[in-house]
Amino acid sequence: MRAEKGIKPVHIEVLEHLTEEQKYSIRVLQQTVFSDVSDEEGEEDFYHPESASVLAYIDDELVGWAGVHISQVEFEGRQFLLGGYGIGVHPDYRRIGIAGIMAKKAMEYLRSHDVDVGFLSVDVTREASILLHERQGFVRLPRDYSWTNARGELKQSNGGMIAPIGSKELFEHVLHGSEAFYVGEGYW
Ligand SMILES: CC(C)(COP(=O)(O)OP(=O)(O)OC[C@H]1O[C@@H](n2cnc3c(N)ncnc32)[C@H](O)[C@@H]1OP(=O)(O)O)[C@@H](O)C(=O)NCCC(=O)NCCS
Repeated sequence: MRAEKGIKPVHIEVLEHLTEEQKYSIRVLQQTVFSDVSDEEGEEDFYHPESASVLAYIDDELVGWAGVHISQVEFEGRQFLLGGYGIGVHPDYRRIGIAGIMAKKAMEYLRSHDVDVGFLSVDVTREASILLHERQGFVRLPRDYSWTNARGELKQSNGGMIAPIGSKELFEHVLHGSEAFYVGEGYW
């Protein structure tokens, strides 16, 4: 893997439980990576609990994080498991393959937990993240997705991407549906 051939080796961990120290390091990294996301937006929309975290370290410094999510959903008459990840890499360590490695680990976790369809949301102006997710099999959802925010309000947005994980058929069902794709309580 490219990052391992770089100047310093990257150490990757996939964890279902985090120490307080790890939680703190993730918050610090997120403040740098997602400086454009307000605290209000974070609390209102991104409150869905993580199933696992993928952490990337260089020299004991946390340089990358992916929060992996799994949710039971119902869409146009079908029930299935939806899963995806939010991801970020420290600006000083980009373009050396770290996100690619973490995304692969996140997809392995979802596959091994019987997730049928992948979902994640992107800022449509960020080509880097769209390309990254396309490499994991995600395509742009041609309709809006919707979710319930922490205040119980139904919200809707564009920038959804979906991927077949365990079921190509359910992926097609979502891709060719007619309504906004409801992803549940919060998203990632
Ligand atoms: C998007 C992000 C996670 C990529 O991290 P990264 O470690 O630099 O990505 P990688 O080096 O693993 O690149 C993997 C692939 O993503 C794409 N990519 C990543 N950065 C890119 C850029 N600046 N321009 C174009 N493509 C890019 C490429 O396809 C790349 O593969 P390649 O280098 O073989 O062409 C990082 O830029 C980031 O944290 N951005 C801010 C937060 C964000 O947008 N997160 C995604 C929200 S879901």
